[in-house]
Amino acid sequence: MRLVVTGANGFVGRHVVAHAAGSGWDVSGVVRSNGAARVVGGSGGHPVTLPDLERDALSRAFEGSRAVVHLAQIGAERGGQSYEAVNVDLTGRVVEACRRAGVRRIVYFSGLGVARYGMSRRCTNGYFRSKLAAEALLVRSDREGVVFRPSYIVGPGDAFVPTVLAAMAEGEVERPGDGSYRMQPIAVADATALVLAAVTRPSGAFPTVFDLVGPEPVSFAHLLDRLARVAREDGRPARHRVREVAIAEAERRARDGGYQGMLPDELDCLLCDEIADHHPLEALLGRRLTPLDTALAAAVRAA
Ligand SMILES: NC(=O)c1ccc[n+]([C@@H]2O[C@H](COP(=O)([O-])OP(=O)(O)OC[C@H]3O[C@@H](n4cnc5c(N)ncnc54)[C@H](OP(=O)(O)O)[C@@H]3O)[C@@H](O)[C@H]2O)c1
Repeated sequence: MRLVVTGANGFVGRHVVAHAAGSGWDVSGVVRSNGAARVVGGSGGHPVTLPDLERDALSRAFEGSRAVVHLAQIGAERGGQSYEAVNVDLTGRVVEACRRAGVRRIVYFSGLGVARYGMSRRCTNGYFRSKLAAEALLVRSDREGVVFRPSYIVGPGDAFVPTVLAAMAEGEVERPGDGSYRMQPIAVADATALVLAAVTRPSGAFPTVFDLVGPEPVSFAHLLDRLARVAREDGRPARHRVREVAIAEAERRARDGGYQGMLPDELDCLLCDEIADHHPLEALLGRRLTPLDTALAAAVRAA
């Protein structure tokens, strides 16, 4: 009943640690700093602080674990970090450390859209290439990899909902283009339950790759409307107007340092219009996924 989570202080990592600890797992969270270690402790896990995340130290940290949930990844190259170093090379060290420690199963979070690399322009960038390369490392290894490819994960602590709520309270939300591009948000509570289901399912089970999507595809424009309604039901000021910004202008600002905090690859993730079948997740979980409004309401309450 021992589980190790990398990236354990991140948004998903915190929820995985808390859910696993609450379900009786002995959870260790591998992090890089003392501040991150405190977050892991606050979530009910045992922090393991490894500033350099080098292979031998990872291997020692993984010993005796049923599985490693590998979440330490970046969604954009900021502050001198590179996709190659974090998303690819670190994943390679995690795979090798699992092999040395005798950990058979690795649960990995990739990105929805990886399957359309080279087919869709917005899924053909450095971020998706690094996720594809990391998936390939798992596929080529002798470990049991389970890959989740998330759409937007929504819930307490996510970055998107508080930002949009703040703009709604100010009276204006900016939207790139007409907002017709779709996404399929999944509740973080479902994502964490699915991680534990992936950890405990029998060896050899199929599929090994899941699109991590919620039960309902929505356009971004519709998502903003739904979030506003849920926010008003929670008693929040969300009577705003939407100001449309041309997509080319949003892209220019993303290239020039950030559009609403998003670098170009992150803007691609918003605009990429990726949706998928959620039924394999319900089969893995053995229940229905959380409805979108319920997932949004949990995020709004916590914001
Ligand atoms: N949240 C979503 O909607 C979403 C959507 C698609 C895919 N995903 C994928 O799901 C996974 C978890 O996402 P998340 O939202 O929890 O991400 P997050 O909140 O950004 O957390 C990222 C984690 O990675 C660690 N990290 C960052 N740079 C690192 C480096 N150079 N070396 C080692 N660790 C590093 C961070 O630790 P520090 O605090 O030390 O930096 C943090 O623990 C990621 O693989 C992400 O790509 C998430």
